[in-house]
Amino acid sequence: MSDTLTPAHVAIIMDGNGRWAKSRLLPRAEGHRQGVQALNRVTEAAVRRGIARLTVFAFSSENWARPAAEVAMLMQLFGQGLRRWCEPLDEAGVRLRVIGDRSAFSPGLQAAIAECEHATAGGTRMELNIAANYGGRWDVCQAAARAAAEGLAVTPETLGRFMSVPDVDLLIRTGGECRISNFLLWQSAYAEIFFTDRLWPDFSADDLDEALRWYEGRERRFGRTSEQLRAPH
Ligand code: IPE
Ligand code: IPE
Ligand code: MG
Repeated sequence: MSDTLTPAHVAIIMDGNGRWAKSRLLPRAEGHRQGVQALNRVTEAAVRRGIARLTVFAFSSENWARPAAEVAMLMQLFGQGLRRWCEPLDEAGVRLRVIGDRSAFSPGLQAAIAECEHATAGGTRMELNIAANYGGRWDVCQAAARAAAEGLAVTPETLGRFMSVPDVDLLIRTGGECRISNFLLWQSAYAEIFFTDRLWPDFSADDLDEALRWYEGRERRFGRTSEQLRAPH
């Protein structure tokens, strides 16, 4: 089920967990826990909508700067989530991958990541990429290093081959901020960008549908003119 109206690659900056909790006088941790539930709902909805690839920003390379207790809580939630969702993802035909520099994670977390990637490797309905300890600048650098290691000239084409994920069609950011925060810098070159005030724990399948409808109305010109796009081939 793929057509040009359905974005092949949707990326989401899942922002607003802390504010969601604060507005309810709850600890930030509760916002993150609800954020995991939201990810589960949106993953199911994305599979139903025929989206081939979903990449979500779970923990940025800059998020290490948060209070140690919050970082520890997020790491714990990540490990728990991998163990809890591995089987249901596999059953739903979802192949999970983690993108980012995983060498900074504890050996236990690295093992949980490898296990979940291995267990879901056969999934063909959708690819779910979790960006953890991810930064767009890091991604460009690791791609350049790999291209150089293979003796290739550094060009947009060679680098593109080594980026963690391919180009993004639709980028969604929840939580009201209108910035990229070092997410998929290279891959968002021609992404349609949908900003919403909805806080991530409140984001629903209906909100995803709203973004998908908005995307359908975009004219993706990639530098060309409208007239060129409408001309018969
Ligand atoms: C996004 O929610 C989750 C992570 C960055 C891990 P935040 O924790 O940034 O929530 P706000 O922006 O403080 O509301
Ligand atoms: C971006 O959110 C990172 C994730 C959603 C994981 P932040 O909340 O960290 O972004 P800034 O710091 O407000 O730009
Ligand atoms: Mg935030």
